[in-house]
Amino acid sequence: DQIERGGFAHFMLKEIFEQPQTLENTMRGRLILEEGFTKLGGLNLTKEELLAIDSVVITACGTSWHSALIGEMMIEELCRIPVEVEYASEYRYKNPIVTPNTLVIVISQSGETADTLAAMREAKRRGARTLGLVNVVGSTIAREDDGGIYLHAGPEIGVASTKAFTSQVVALALFTLKLARLRNLSVEQGRRIAQALAELPAQVQSIIERADEIEALAEQFKSAHNFLYLGRGYNFPTALEGALKLKEISYIHAEGYPAAEMKHGPIALIDDLMPVVVVAPHDAVFDKVTSNIQEVKARKGRVIAITTREEPALKGQLDYEFRIPETVDMLTPILASIPLQLLAYYIAVKRGCNVDQPRNLAKSVTVE
Ligand code: G6P
Repeated sequence: DQIERGGFAHFMLKEIFEQPQTLENTMRGRLILEEGFTKLGGLNLTKEELLAIDSVVITACGTSWHSALIGEMMIEELCRIPVEVEYASEYRYKNPIVTPNTLVIVISQSGETADTLAAMREAKRRGARTLGLVNVVGSTIAREDDGGIYLHAGPEIGVASTKAFTSQVVALALFTLKLARLRNLSVEQGRRIAQALAELPAQVQSIIERADEIEALAEQFKSAHNFLYLGRGYNFPTALEGALKLKEISYIHAEGYPAAEMKHGPIALIDDLMPVVVVAPHDAVFDKVTSNIQEVKARKGRVIAITTREEPALKGQLDYEFRIPETVDMLTPILASIPLQLLAYYIAVKRGCNVDQPRNLAKSVTVE
């Protein structure tokens, strides 16, 4: 066990630190930088079939469902195809609408989650094309889907998913880029995204090298009873994922919310004891997020912000700031997730929790 952990205290920490390599592995041989295009050998769809797709459903559970939400935004923004994201456990019981031109994307680290597998079978039964984004090679979902993109993130042992999540988001970006370029995305725009993808591993590396800053932050907040995570646009799912990581392994109650929707409920909870993690990179919704931060500050909440650069609008508003490198909007969730994974990890360790095997949770839920 100790040898497998490679000198790390826990598998989860090892897997967080592996992300520069795992992201590299997800992209290996797939990015064509000069054409702003991607090569995805396992899709099993011709160019004509790809162009005929007129609706997309993405189904998954848990952390994989969060990457699905990010994929929804990417595909809608760049490919202009309507996308629905469904919890697998709900999809199978809702009499889903499927046409021969519906692509159902199934996301699963293990490839064995019972609800996700059943949702995929239901979609196939109704005539949809299925595409699996799976990490475990040869797993049931990978064997039964019509085509797939393996994540190549390597074995994930920690129950709380980390490296599989960031690889899922990259795989979704690779797929989106391909489909968008076949449809209407310009070469220049494609190149910009491909270049940003290629830069991710080094950017992630620069974040994990500063893990000690997050550890110090965890020390300050380890005794909190509740956490609120806020984000908008591409980073609303990042907020959901940050909150999920914290509650899974530290047993602190945490809620992820779209930043502006906060005023329709969670704002009632904010007082000077409430840490509020705000994912606020300099993206298309930055100004809006700034005003949400002011709303939190006005209620004396303690703001922990993930930002990308010095912003006059944030002066005096933040109790703690962690800067991540800049990238294209659609990839900001990958960089923003790393400090949130580390925050959950260090808080859980400081609370004496079993981070690799949290109570009541399983790595793969193979029952309904
Ligand atoms: C369990 C795990 C989560 C995971 C979810 C979906 O709940 O604890 O970490 O996100 O299952 O698993 P999958 O293998 O389908 O991605």
